[in-house]
Amino acid sequence: MIIQPRVRGFICLTSHPEGTAENVKQQIEYVKSKGKITDGPKKVLVIGASTGFGLASRISAAFGSDAATVGVFFEKPSAPGKPGTAGWYNTAAFEEQAIEAGLYAKSINGDAFSDEIKKQTIQLIKQDLGQVDLVVYSLASPRRTHPKTGVAHSSVLKPIGQAFTNKTVDFHAGVVSDISIQPVENQEDINNTIAVMGGEDWKFWIEELKNAGALAEGVKTVAYSYIGPELTYPIYRNGTIGKAKDDLEATVSTLNEILKDLNGISYVSVNKALVTQSSSAIPVVPLYISLLYKVMKEKGIHEGTIEQMQRLFSERLYNGAEIALDEKGRIRVDDLEMREDVQQEVAKLWEQATTDNLEEISDIIGYRNEFFHLFGFNFENVNYDADTNEVVEIPSIKGQS
Ligand code: NAI
Repeated sequence: MIIQPRVRGFICLTSHPEGTAENVKQQIEYVKSKGKITDGPKKVLVIGASTGFGLASRISAAFGSDAATVGVFFEKPSAPGKPGTAGWYNTAAFEEQAIEAGLYAKSINGDAFSDEIKKQTIQLIKQDLGQVDLVVYSLASPRRTHPKTGVAHSSVLKPIGQAFTNKTVDFHAGVVSDISIQPVENQEDINNTIAVMGGEDWKFWIEELKNAGALAEGVKTVAYSYIGPELTYPIYRNGTIGKAKDDLEATVSTLNEILKDLNGISYVSVNKALVTQSSSAIPVVPLYISLLYKVMKEKGIHEGTIEQMQRLFSERLYNGAEIALDEKGRIRVDDLEMREDVQQEVAKLWEQATTDNLEEISDIIGYRNEFFHLFGFNFENVNYDADTNEVVEIPSIKGQS
């Protein structure tokens, strides 16, 4: 079928199999161009492996360190006349390239929050790899059904205490406007957001992997967080999502206790703000990202998900020396984003930004382009008017979908 982008708000309903494969290929090429990671991971589980930081982590481990990878995600398979989601096609392309390179790669598609998917994943690890030496936790989800209570929690993206008014952008139309977001009305919304995006599920994974003997001596585990500039604090770091990130970060000490007898260790890495399916859903953030991209590109220090994860693996997690942490014990790969000169320039542009000058002072065009890239669109070497086969199988899931 001919697949063109169909956009609704901040999501794109269609994905292109050849374009997503191109996206994956470019990420693999980048990792290969950086050479092998010294003493990198060899057997890796990535939870949330099909898009964004999780996909980039899987590619960095596989192509930067020849690691065998098991990826868990929740994606819609393709069917005749119905394109699959981007993460489905990304994984198909990843597995094909991994197989070609002689690397083990298998995937599990289902709800990572459930006991059933944890059980299946652990079974696969035990059967094929024995143990893993790195667990990457990179889920981003709006809801979670709690595996023990059966309660369905939905997260909210709201400030706490008082309403927040600031600029935002409709990045498709290029229109800058003011947005007012009312604060959460009750503690329940905060608790629900923590239940979805906090650290409990990460802990469940690590506990269950350990109890099954699926974690190797010296295992590492990492989850991802965000801080960002003060102007997004009310909606991000001091808002409901920030409370969930506080909880995720606090889980590190619990996990370190659990992993102590294996000489294992857990980390949270604070990453840079980037265009992903999740970040485009947060009000105010897309305008900040398009100004940030402009400034960082001009300074020659811009990074995408793959540059971030390759650097996390090669210069932080596996740099052969002690890992530098901030005062709260976190790894920082948002160091370039948070540089004072970068933040000062972004703050200045923020004051000036209007619909009229948006294209000139921000990288809104780059933002839009990257958004479409997430779904496999806007690649110059892909012909979007041509027929393409929408039915693509993931090699390790063949016949099961
Ligand atoms: P993303 O939306 O690109 O990826 C989310 C992944 O989670 C996908 O693989 C998806 O299939 C999987 N997933 C969602 N629900 C699932 C479920 N129930 N079961 C199994 N898999 C499920 O998100 P992104 O942006 O890569 O986020 C990953 C982490 O990085 C999050 O913790 C996020 O807060 C963090 N982060 C994101 C930043 C950004 O600017 N995008 C900045 C810093 C941190």
